[in-house]
Amino acid sequence: MSATIIDGKAFAATIRGKVGEHVARLRETHGITPGLAVVLVGEDPASQVYVRSKGKQTIEAGMNSYEHKLDAGTSQADLLALIDTLNNDAEVHGILVQLPLPGHIDSDLVINSIDPAKDVDGFHISNVGLLGTGQKSMVPCTPLGCLMMLRDHLGSLSGLDAVVVGRSNIVGKPMAQLLLGESCTVTIAHSRTRDLPDVVRRADIVVAAVGRPEMVPGEWIKPGATVIDVGINRIDAPERGTNEDGSVKTRLVGDCHFESCAAVAGAITPVPGGVGPMTIACLLANTVTACCRANG
Ligand code: GUN
Repeated sequence: MSATIIDGKAFAATIRGKVGEHVARLRETHGITPGLAVVLVGEDPASQVYVRSKGKQTIEAGMNSYEHKLDAGTSQADLLALIDTLNNDAEVHGILVQLPLPGHIDSDLVINSIDPAKDVDGFHISNVGLLGTGQKSMVPCTPLGCLMMLRDHLGSLSGLDAVVVGRSNIVGKPMAQLLLGESCTVTIAHSRTRDLPDVVRRADIVVAAVGRPEMVPGEWIKPGATVIDVGINRIDAPERGTNEDGSVKTRLVGDCHFESCAAVAGAITPVPGGVGPMTIACLLANTVTACCRANG
């Protein structure tokens, strides 16, 4: 292995420390405590883990955490009513509705009902438009975390060839916008892209966000490229044996095949311990930003 491992866990801890200092200063100088409301509808196990982690880290940073756990059958009207209440609550500076929502709820409608100034996910169409036109906006947390790691590792990104594999609204599209803002030459690749290996091989920066375990092999990576792996996929790991209930043990892998990519890349983020911790750290930072903007 030759690549530098980009330690997202350590980087995220540094950001959380800075957020904590900022929160303490806000309290001392202005008597304000930033507050983040997280709304979870249903019992999706992965979402429950994320929401718990977000709440814990919000409190550890000295902020107020408001968790709203609604059952899976909650009506769209009730969810919209809750968001309206949170929009009008001066103690709540950030609102996050955990996705995915149950099928009977129109996710776009819900997200676009959040006050854009409190939209710490950066998913509201106003924030999407502001980001796309290079104006001050709330920036989606995962792409923001990726960009921070890229800047930290590479310095200027100007003129570099970047390929984003994946075109989701949450990661792929905003990531491409951010890289464009850094003057990269950006390609968004996806499941219909022709000659995907050749497209990826041209890139100085590869951001993989497709949700397919170990899809990108080392042979696709240009020697020395920087690889940011957004994927968090759980796969069976029979080599680890079985659990007490007889089920096969599992392990987390990214969208890139770590060993082969690390043998060729200049730098790579691991899974776990890369992009994941940065996402929540950026969520906390966005909440402080929203609080500061709300209070002039
Ligand atoms: N589900 C998976 N990732 C995210 C995220 O970044 N924000 C929200 N709200 N839901 C998610």
